Amino acid sequence: MQDLSKKIYEYCEAHSSGPLPVLEEIERATHLHTLSPRMLSGHLQGSFLSLISMMCSPVSILEIGTFTGYSAVCLARGLRPGGKLCTMEYDPEHAAMARRFIEKSGFGDRIQLMEGDARKLIPQVESTFDLVFIDADKESYGTYFDLVIDKCRSGSIIIADNVLWSGKVVDEPKDKKTEIIDRFNKKIHADARVETVILPVRDGLSLIRVL
Ligand SMILES: C[S@@+](CC[C@H](N)C(=O)[O-])C[C@H]1O[C@@H](n2cnc3c(N)ncnc32)[C@H](O)[C@@H]1O
Repeated sequence: MQDLSKKIYEYCEAHSSGPLPVLEEIERATHLHTLSPRMLSGHLQGSFLSLISMMCSPVSILEIGTFTGYSAVCLARGLRPGGKLCTMEYDPEHAAMARRFIEKSGFGDRIQLMEGDARKLIPQVESTFDLVFIDADKESYGTYFDLVIDKCRSGSIIIADNVLWSGKVVDEPKDKKTEIIDRFNKKIHADARVETVILPVRDGLSLIRVL
């Protein structure tokens, strides 16, 4: 959360629909058992992802960067009957924890967790995607976009997380990681195949619609 004061952020959370009990459990366990619990989407962003997914009513969702399964469960809530979500994670400990909670969430039969490097896994997936959530290593965001854009149809939505990078995208000079995020934002902005809006929610979300 970069541009909203803490109090406003808390107000937004308090007046947004509450997370499912399993999401609260994932959040607690993530804080107890992982080194970087801040990577988890959390209540406000998770509710946003759920609502977007419910509005799109996707048949096929791709998530790049599962972590402990929080956002996967949020996104799966919007799946159309018979729809599937494929989520990719290369850290075996994160994947093991996510598997446990995905089963517990009741979406186990609709979420497929693929373990490995998403840059290698995406080309192996044959289906097209109605909704994509990019939330893995920032260095590969441009590559992920290039890998998924031809697997999207007109009207598909791609969401990219952390595009404001703690607000550092407006700093000069920018550090190396911020340069990478800034380059990604400029790349998407210049791409005539999509229209996009950057929302200052949490660490910045890019909402990208394929034309
Ligand atoms: C920010 S966390 C994802 C958070 C999750 N989407 C959520 O909102 O709860 C990023 C995850 O991507 C994974 N990751 C990083 N690079 C990856 C890659 N090349 N392929 C697959 N997973 C990767 C990390 O291990 C980490 O678990």
